[in-house]
Amino acid sequence: MTPRPKFTPLDDRLYGYLLAHRSPDDDVVRELREETARLGGHAVMQISPDQATLLRILVAATGARRAIEVGTFTGFSALAIARGMAPEGQLLCLDLSEEWTAIARRAWAKAGVARRIELRLGPAAETLRGLPASPQFDFAFIDADKRGYPVYWDEIVRRLRPGGLVAVDNVLWGGEVVQADKHGEDLDAIRQFNEMVLADTRVESVMLAVADGLTLARKLP
Ligand SMILES: C[S@@+](CC[C@H](N)C(=O)[O-])C[C@H]1O[C@@H](n2cnc3c(N)ncnc32)[C@H](O)[C@@H]1O
Repeated sequence: MTPRPKFTPLDDRLYGYLLAHRSPDDDVVRELREETARLGGHAVMQISPDQATLLRILVAATGARRAIEVGTFTGFSALAIARGMAPEGQLLCLDLSEEWTAIARRAWAKAGVARRIELRLGPAAETLRGLPASPQFDFAFIDADKRGYPVYWDEIVRRLRPGGLVAVDNVLWGGEVVQADKHGEDLDAIRQFNEMVLADTRVESVMLAVADGLTLARKLP
């Protein structure tokens, strides 16, 4: 029997197939993605549609009631997380930009999830340090400035309930993490962050080849 490959490299055609074979987007998502695309180059910061579906499923499957996100931009990942939660769920979103999150607020209102979301503007490290120290979150998503990841990770993991999940975006950095001759502030920060996660005995973790690489970690009891 021909051995099956342990992974399947994606090209544009296969990625298109993958996108076409997930639950379809609704008008709120379509409009938000179109509005974000009109921002031009910044739009690359938005998470991918399959990642959004995955976040929503993870949140719903774990029954998360309190969640936190670092890096909201125009609100696509927050929309997915909020939609995965029950109506009494609470998502705390941290970002710096009034302008980009104004787009997010409109999309959340259209989707009917605005009441589940609190947005705090300001440097995320400061906001996180100001939160109660007790474990309070069931789910977290980190997707902001890459050099801030170690602080966001540490402040969030200590506030995660046992069994809680944290997902972190861009951990493969376009595949450059394994290209030893390549360096850059963000790339080196991601490499250091990945080693930090591996050494963190508070969690068990796995890197998923979703979008630009997604680390998924569960806080151990
Ligand atoms: C990659 S985007 C987030 C994309 C978003 N998750 C989505 O689904 O569209 C990164 C965001 O992090 C925010 N950001 C960058 N540095 C930050 C900081 N120090 N504190 C809080 N937010 C920050 C930026 O304003 C930007 O909106």
